[in-house]
Amino acid sequence: MSIFFVYSVVTFFFLLLLSPARSYDYGSGLESLARGMLESAKDPEFFQWMRGIRRSIHEHPETGFQEFKTSQLVRDELDSLGVKYKWPVAKTGVVAWIGSGSKPIFGLRADMDALPLQELVEWESKSKVDGKMHACGHDTHVAMLLGAARLLHSRKHLIKGTVKLVFQPGEEGYGGAYEMLKDEILDDLDGILSVHVFPSIPSGGIGSRPGTVLAGAGLFTVTVHGQGSHAATPHFSKDPVLAASSAVVALQQIVSREMDPLEAGVFTVGYIEGGHAKNVIPESAKFGGTFRSLSNDGLLYIQRRIKEISEAQASVYRCIAEVNFEEKKPSLHPVMMNDQSIYEHGRKVAEAMIGKNNFHDFPVTMGAEDFSFFTQKTKAAIFVLGIKNETLGAGKPLHSPYFFVDEATLPVGAALHAAMAVSYLDKHGHVHDDEVKREL
Ligand SMILES: *[C@@H]1O[C@H](CO)[C@@H](O)[C@H](O)[C@H]1NC(C)=O
Ligand SMILES: [Zn+2]
Ligand SMILES: [Zn+2]
Repeated sequence: MSIFFVYSVVTFFFLLLLSPARSYDYGSGLESLARGMLESAKDPEFFQWMRGIRRSIHEHPETGFQEFKTSQLVRDELDSLGVKYKWPVAKTGVVAWIGSGSKPIFGLRADMDALPLQELVEWESKSKVDGKMHACGHDTHVAMLLGAARLLHSRKHLIKGTVKLVFQPGEEGYGGAYEMLKDEILDDLDGILSVHVFPSIPSGGIGSRPGTVLAGAGLFTVTVHGQGSHAATPHFSKDPVLAASSAVVALQQIVSREMDPLEAGVFTVGYIEGGHAKNVIPESAKFGGTFRSLSNDGLLYIQRRIKEISEAQASVYRCIAEVNFEEKKPSLHPVMMNDQSIYEHGRKVAEAMIGKNNFHDFPVTMGAEDFSFFTQKTKAAIFVLGIKNETLGAGKPLHSPYFFVDEATLPVGAALHAAMAVSYLDKHGHVHDDEVKREL
C-alpha cells in the first residue's frame, strides 16, 4: 500500500468530516439523514417499543373525543422521553414540541380515535372492547408519531427551529382537527405533514400527490314530518314515507343532472328509517347521508340543493322537511389540497429514504379527512404509507372489520415524519438566509 494511497484516503475522510450536511435537500445529506433515522427506528429495541405502543392502543380503542387512555399513554411516553407538551388541547388532544421553541415551526400530526366497529380479526392483540376497533390505523399513527418524537429528541441539535407534534382526537366525523385549531398553540405553524396508513400500497411504500387529493365532505339529516294514520285510511294521513322516498330519488339528480359531468360529486343516502308497523302510516320519516365534491364551491352547491329539493319534495306530499347539516360540528370538511412545496419536499425525503421505485403516485379519491382543516391555517400535505402484505393478511380496506396492518412499516412512518421535519426546517432556514442576502 503506497503512502500516497494512505494519504489520499485520509484526506478523503478528512474532507468528508469537513463537509457538514448543510443542505439536506438535494445532496446525499438528505439521504443519510433519512436513512439514518430509518435505521434507528428499525433497531429491535426501538421497533418493539413502537409496536408495543401500537398494540396497547389497538387493544383499548377509544372513539372520538373519548381518547382518555390513549391521551394518557401519549403523555406518559412524552414524559419518559423528556419532551414537553400542552394538554388538553380540544379535550383529549396533546401538542408536544421539540427544538428551539422559536420559528420556523413545522407540525407533524397523528389522529388518535377508533371506530364503532367490531373487530373480526383473531390475533393476539385483538381489540378488547366490544364494538370498537382501530380499523383506520390511527393506533399506528400515534405509535409512529411517538417514534418520531424519540428520533427527534435524540437529534435535537439538528433542529433549526421547532417541531410541533399534534396528537389529535376525533377524526372520524367529529371535526377534531377543527377543534384543535381553535387553540393558539397551533397559530404559528409554517407547515404540517400528516401520514395515513394505506392498504392498497405495498408494505413500506410511500405515496402522495400534488394539489387536490381528497374530497370536501358534509353530512346531512332530513326529517320529514307528516301525519300518521291507520294504513287502511291513507286519506287521513300525510305520508312521510312516500315523501321521503320521493326526496331520496329526486336528490340523486343533483349530481347526475345539475353538475358538470367532468366535476366529481357524490351524493349518498346511507340510512332511511320511518315507522315500525306494517299497517300504520307513521308521523315522520328520516334519512341521512354524505355529500362530497373536489371543489369547495361544488360542496356548497350540493349542500344548498339538498335543502331546496328535500323541502320542495316534502311539500308535494303535504309534508314538511327539516334539513340539518349541524349534527356533528363543523358540518363541512374542506377539500384536501396538498401544498406544492410540502408535497415536493416530502417526496424528496421519501425517495431519499426508501428509493424512487417505492414512491407511489396516489390517485385522487372521494375519501375525506379532517386534516383538510389544517390547509385553511398553514401549508399542509398528507402522505400515505403502504401496509399491504398478503402473507400477513394485511391489505383489507380502511374501516373494514378485517383491517390489518403490517407492523414492519412502523419505522418507515416514524422516520418519514422525523426526517421531513428536520430537513424542512433546515431548508426553510437556508431559503430565508438566501432571501436576506439577496435583499442586501
Ligand atoms: C410480509 O411479512 C412477512 C412476515 O413479517 C415478511 O417476511 C415479508 O418480507 C413481508 N413482505 C413484504 C412485501 O414486506
Ligand atoms: Zn377513517
Ligand atoms: Zn383515518
